[in-house]
Amino acid sequence: MNETTNLKVTKSSRQGQDDGRVIGLVVAASTNNVIGKNNHLVWNLPNDLKFFKNTTWGFPVIMGRKTFAEVNKPLPGRINIVITRKADWKAEGAIAAPDLEDAIHKAAETNAKQIFIIGGGEIYKQSMPIADLIYLTRVHAVVDGDTFFPVIDENIWELISNEDFPTDEKHAYAYSFQVWKKK
Ligand SMILES: NC(=O)c1ccc[n+]([C@@H]2O[C@H](COP(=O)([O-])OP(=O)(O)OC[C@H]3O[C@@H](n4cnc5c(N)ncnc54)[C@H](OP(=O)(O)O)[C@@H]3O)[C@@H](O)[C@H]2O)c1
Repeated sequence: MNETTNLKVTKSSRQGQDDGRVIGLVVAASTNNVIGKNNHLVWNLPNDLKFFKNTTWGFPVIMGRKTFAEVNKPLPGRINIVITRKADWKAEGAIAAPDLEDAIHKAAETNAKQIFIIGGGEIYKQSMPIADLIYLTRVHAVVDGDTFFPVIDENIWELISNEDFPTDEKHAYAYSFQVWKKK
């Protein structure tokens, strides 16, 4: 994405924010910011999946085409918007968008109060400038991976809530549900 496009996205999202609409990123990332490997998640954390479902349910979700391929079907109870450069891309139950800006416009047309951007790495990177909130599940482990969440710049973002959970029989890693708000 070039700088001009990026600027346009930022402007349109600010207009959205003035309408009271919130753009949130939802992500689970390890201590070293890994979010995936070989187009898969690198952990199984049932409580995080529940958190993801509860947080995004009923709202539009925006994702990159590779994340949609991994999920393999539209997420139920949510409007699925998939960003792809492939003009002829189609999938039942999903709306294609040629870029992030168009995806935000399509989500905004639903009049939803919140829009969630759910990955993956390429899309998170492009979305950081336009997001208002980050719902981060911080997985307390250093893991091997090939896809990363951007480093959260604490000059730009402030941590507004944090809940810690230990390992248990269903969760091999300790994790924290965090919310970061743009300052
Ligand atoms: N831990 C988590 O919370 C989490 C969440 C989601 C995903 N993930 C992981 O993230 C990985 C996938 O991330 P990824 O970075 O490889 O892929 P991605 O961001 O899901 O999708 C990349 C694709 O999006 C499209 N795209 C990206 N920028 C675009 C633009 N400016 N305009 C138009 N289309 C654009 C392209 O699709 P086309 O090639 O079709 O043009 C590109 O190949 C997987 O490992 C997945 O498990 C983790």
